[in-house]
Amino acid sequence: MTQATARKRILSGVQPSGKLHLGNYFGAIKQHIALQDEGECFYFIADYHALTTLPDLETEPAKRAELLRTNAHDVALSYLSLGLDPKKAIFFRQSDVPEVTELAWILSTVTGMGLLERAHSYKDKVARGIAPSVGLFTYPVLMAADILIYRSNLVPVGQDQVQHLEMTRDMAGYFNRAYHEELFPLPQERLDEAAVVPGTDGKKMSKSYGNTIDIFAEGNALKKPVMSIVTDSASVADQKDPAKCNLYALYSLFASPDEKTEMAQRYRAGGLGYGEVKKALLTKIDVYFAPARQRRKELEKHPSAVESILQEGARKARAEAQKTMELVRKATGLR
Ligand code: ADP
Ligand code: TRP
Repeated sequence: MTQATARKRILSGVQPSGKLHLGNYFGAIKQHIALQDEGECFYFIADYHALTTLPDLETEPAKRAELLRTNAHDVALSYLSLGLDPKKAIFFRQSDVPEVTELAWILSTVTGMGLLERAHSYKDKVARGIAPSVGLFTYPVLMAADILIYRSNLVPVGQDQVQHLEMTRDMAGYFNRAYHEELFPLPQERLDEAAVVPGTDGKKMSKSYGNTIDIFAEGNALKKPVMSIVTDSASVADQKDPAKCNLYALYSLFASPDEKTEMAQRYRAGGLGYGEVKKALLTKIDVYFAPARQRRKELEKHPSAVESILQEGARKARAEAQKTMELVRKATGLR
C-alpha cells in the first residue's frame, strides 16, 4: 500500500458502450483492479451516461433498451472475470443510485453555462456527428455528481477525462462557496499508466476507429485482428527499429522485461518476419487472458449471481450517497 493512496476513497466509472478492448484494459481496467488493494474503491457502470450516445433514435425502442442492458451486463462480466473482487471494491450500476441525478440537478444550478461550453469532449462528440441533446451537454455535471456524491478523493482516468475532473473541482468549489459549507472534498485525477495503446492500424485503439483487439475474443475472432496489424514493408532479412513498430508496442504490453529486450535485439539484427511476431503476440494474448476467459464462461452461466453482486454494491453505494444527500439537502434548504 502506498502512502499517497492509503485509506483514500477511489472512484471510477466505465461506460457500457460495447466490447472492451486491449486499450481499455491496459489504459484503465488493469489499474482499477490493482487499486482495490490500495483504498476504498467504488466502481460503477455508467449507464445513465451511456444514454447520451446510444445509437440513433430510429433503432426500435425495445432494441435500444436491450442494448443498454446487455452492454451493462457485459461490462459487469468483464470486470468480474478480469479480477474485480466485490469483497474489496463496491461495484454497482450507476442507475441503481438515482440520488446521483438529484445531486446533478443541484450542481447544475450553481454552474455557469460557460464552464460546460468549454468542454472538449462535448465539442469532439458533436464534431463526430452525435446530435447533441441537453444530456450530452450536461454530461460533465452528472460526472461531477458521480464523483462528489461519494466524496471521492482519487479518480483513476485516462487523459481524455482530465478536463472533466477539473470541472468537477470547479463545481465542488461553486457549491461549497454558495452554501458556505466545506461539504465536498476536491477530488484529484490519477492518470492511467499505459499512455496510448495502438490499434491494429497504428492509431489509438478505439471502438470508434474499428481497430480494436477485444479482450475476450478467441480463435479466429482474435487471430483476424492480430494478423491484420499494420506494419511497414520491411522484408524478413531487413534490420528493423522496434521503437517505430506498433506490433512491438502491443507485444511489449504482455512481455517480461527480458522478453522485450530479446525481441528488440531480434528486430535490430534482421532475419525476423512480422508474421512471427504476430504469432508470438497471439500466444501471449491467449495465455494472459486464459484465466479471465475461463472465469467469464463460468459467470455467464450465472447471470443472477452477477446481478446480486451489482445489487449488493448498489446497496452499499446508495447508503453513502444518501448520507451525502442529507447534508446537501440541509445545506441548500431543501429540507
Ligand atoms: P473507446 O475509445 O474505445 O470508445 P473509451 O473512450 O470508452 O474507449 O475508453 C474508456 C477508457 O479506456 C478511457 O478513459 C481510457 O482511459 C481507456 N482507453 C481507451 N482506449 C485506450 C487506448 N487506446 N490506450 C489507452 N487507454 C485507452
Ligand atoms: N466519462 C467517463 C468515460 O467516458 C465515464 C465516467 C462517468 C466516469 N462518470 C465518471 C469516470 C466518474 C470517472 C468518474 O470514460
